[in-house]
Amino acid sequence: MTRRVVRTAIQLGVLCMITVLLLIFVDNRYRVLPSSIHNHLPAHHPGLVIVDVTVKTCNSINPISSCRLDPDKWHRIEKDLYLNKSWLSRAYVHVQRKKEEELDDDDRVVLDMKIGRLDPANGEKGEGNERWEARPAGIWLKRSTKPHMGDSQKAVTAVDVLFGADAVEPRPGWEIKDHPLLLDTSAEIQESRISIRRGNPSDVPKPIPRINKDGKFKIMQAADLHLATGIGLCRDPEPAGWNGGKCDADTRTLDFIGKVLDDEKPDLVVLSGDQVNGDTAPDAQSAVFKFAELFIKRKIPYAAIFGNHDDEGSLNRAALMSLIESLPYSLSEPGPATVDGVGNYYVEILARGTSQHSALTLYLLDTHGYSPDEKNFRGYDWLKKNQIDWFKETAQGLKHAHKQYTHVHMDLAFIHIPLPEYRNTNNYIVGSFKEPPTAPGFNSGFKDALVEEGVLLVSCGHDHVNDYCSLDKSPEGAPQLWMCYGGGAGFGGYGGYDGYHRRVRFFEIDMNEARVTTYKRLEYGDTEKRLDEQIIVDAGKVVGGP
Ligand SMILES: *[C@@H]1O[C@H](CO)[C@@H](O)[C@H](O)[C@H]1NC(C)=O
Repeated sequence: MTRRVVRTAIQLGVLCMITVLLLIFVDNRYRVLPSSIHNHLPAHHPGLVIVDVTVKTCNSINPISSCRLDPDKWHRIEKDLYLNKSWLSRAYVHVQRKKEEELDDDDRVVLDMKIGRLDPANGEKGEGNERWEARPAGIWLKRSTKPHMGDSQKAVTAVDVLFGADAVEPRPGWEIKDHPLLLDTSAEIQESRISIRRGNPSDVPKPIPRINKDGKFKIMQAADLHLATGIGLCRDPEPAGWNGGKCDADTRTLDFIGKVLDDEKPDLVVLSGDQVNGDTAPDAQSAVFKFAELFIKRKIPYAAIFGNHDDEGSLNRAALMSLIESLPYSLSEPGPATVDGVGNYYVEILARGTSQHSALTLYLLDTHGYSPDEKNFRGYDWLKKNQIDWFKETAQGLKHAHKQYTHVHMDLAFIHIPLPEYRNTNNYIVGSFKEPPTAPGFNSGFKDALVEEGVLLVSCGHDHVNDYCSLDKSPEGAPQLWMCYGGGAGFGGYGGYDGYHRRVRFFEIDMNEARVTTYKRLEYGDTEKRLDEQIIVDAGKVVGGP
């Protein structure tokens, strides 16, 4: 009986091992695993504990110099510590993981890690017989003296790598180490940081947004943050000579957003795309964590869609979305797989009190990136028919469900790239129109669909120095849809028009009056003021105009 069990176990083990080896081998060659899995392998293995950590450095031009340790024993974290930027060197953190119940007498569980040149024990009073063990790149490990720990919450269960002097770790249970790994990097390569998790991954419940007791709800739209791996590069900072000409892009962007969040205390943030400036984000995860931390720290729910730059770094749209989706306070979703793009979804904001009914529906759609048919339609891509069909079906389904409500219900929408109708210069506009809208050359009819379904306003990003709202009217002259811009918020994105200051837009909703008021807040200058404040919806109807 025992022998049979052992034999089956061995057979199963061998089968597992072959499968894993094959997967790793094939994945290395052809990237068969989806990026979301490929890039996050170290983080998602409940029940595993880390028993060793090391760094393997290799020479990238010598073909026999390998950057991979024995895959039977070691799991490699798929991030080159030189960010793929060094001509000569590559280096990867490797971890040895074991199932807790399979620990044997030789195994020591990692309890803590420190980074530095000196043995951390030098500055420490004797703590039993645990010693710090040295590993490459300045890593020190403190491991258990006994293989069986009893208290698995103390064990390090996952290790990850982040980049940049400004790297932050917003994941619950995780802790980023203060000091960078010691490598012979040049200044242009961002420092790398170790982040560790102890215990089991925590559950991250999704927030349920709801209209406040006073009937109000405030949405902040942060457009085009353009965050990097590391502090990034300032583009067209305004005013040019301010602060002695010194400008740290992401520091300034995050300070601005943090300040305005504290001041305005929005109930929800919409990130309308280009949060990540792909070109300067060789580790997109580090960029994502920077904006996520702002909201998580303040317990503010946020919903993100993508622009044309988010996926130009190390993560594609699907991987970015699965990362953002997994973070606390995130309402972001990839949306149905059968619909083009990643991030076609809606967010319901419930009526005040304990009602399970929705008061506001926010539709968020993916406007993709560059034109798939540059010859006929230059510039940017457009919303596809299946997305518009999905939107109409969803809106009609929800409308049916909302009919039974006794209270007012309103619909709003957010996209990244403006719609062709944003070009209508005959429309009444409030705010600045400083550049021709870079809407797609092909009109797939989303504006008409929004009007048909009774959406009151749509807001986009993408053109950083436009911050106007434009009023679309019916052929009879009745206001039917406001089309707004958020106005660029990030210093890592362009802003090259004289006197243009970074800004964010607010939508203040008052359900008592079924009213929407919008305004912007500036990063520099008259920062206390509500800029271009206007009522755009009243008694549930689109209003405004001369
Ligand atoms: C480096 O290149 C590899 C292979 O293209 C990629 O998987 C990885 O995300 C890149 N960035 C880092 C930080 O390793």
